[in-house]
Amino acid sequence: RDLRTPVIAGNWKMNNDRTAAKALLSDLAPLVKDAACTVITCVPFTDLETALAATAGTDIKVGAQNCHFEKSGAYTGEVSADMLAEMGVEYVVLGHSERRQYFGETDVTVNLRTKAALAAGLKPIVCVGEHLEDREQGVTAELVALQTKIALLDVTAEQLQNVIIAYEPVWAIGTGKTATAEQAGEVCGVIRATVASLYGKEAADKLVVQYGGSMNAGNADELLAQPDVDGGLIGGASLKADAFAQIVAAAS
Ligand code: G3P
Repeated sequence: RDLRTPVIAGNWKMNNDRTAAKALLSDLAPLVKDAACTVITCVPFTDLETALAATAGTDIKVGAQNCHFEKSGAYTGEVSADMLAEMGVEYVVLGHSERRQYFGETDVTVNLRTKAALAAGLKPIVCVGEHLEDREQGVTAELVALQTKIALLDVTAEQLQNVIIAYEPVWAIGTGKTATAEQAGEVCGVIRATVASLYGKEAADKLVVQYGGSMNAGNADELLAQPDVDGGLIGGASLKADAFAQIVAAAS
């Protein structure tokens, strides 16, 4: 744990127009000043420029919520990793379960996007996690290990240093149903063990593994106390400055 600085990332999803983004970030900046953890807000594409301007000189870093794996071309509606990097965006969420569920993304396309993001110099936050039926069938560990392995295919040990993995059990997202701290800790441990089997223990000990799924000010302490939980990817609670700042404080 000493080898890792916790990372608290807000995933705004499809919320906040530019006016709301500016207001939220200006409320948040003083609340997270000098935080002992890394603080990121992942915003809609249309908010990126506003967010970059609003966070300049603050302790808040900016991420996007997806990028395409091709560098350019006839991919209507898509945004490339290079386009994000050129704007000064530092992070990008990839493989979120909503992308997998509604937009047909697969482990293979998540791997392609991860490689494209890393090649562009972005730091991907790669999401993995099981559905309720997977958990009920007792295959969570195998499934999450497989998702992790495929996401990292052909990612070099050097590139791995820029990767964050977020464990988001699909049944806990936006449902108010949080994984217990033990469940979160256990699966984050599986992810770290998987990375250790691929890259060695030293690399795995440095990897930041976040938990995401109905994390809030009330349960953050307990979740973050788990030795393998190095932070959180926060949806709903990232839309309010004080709630998000309380989670940041819990991680600091
Ligand atoms: O990426 C964050 C996420 O999916 C969790 O959302 O609203 O359950 O915190 P929420």
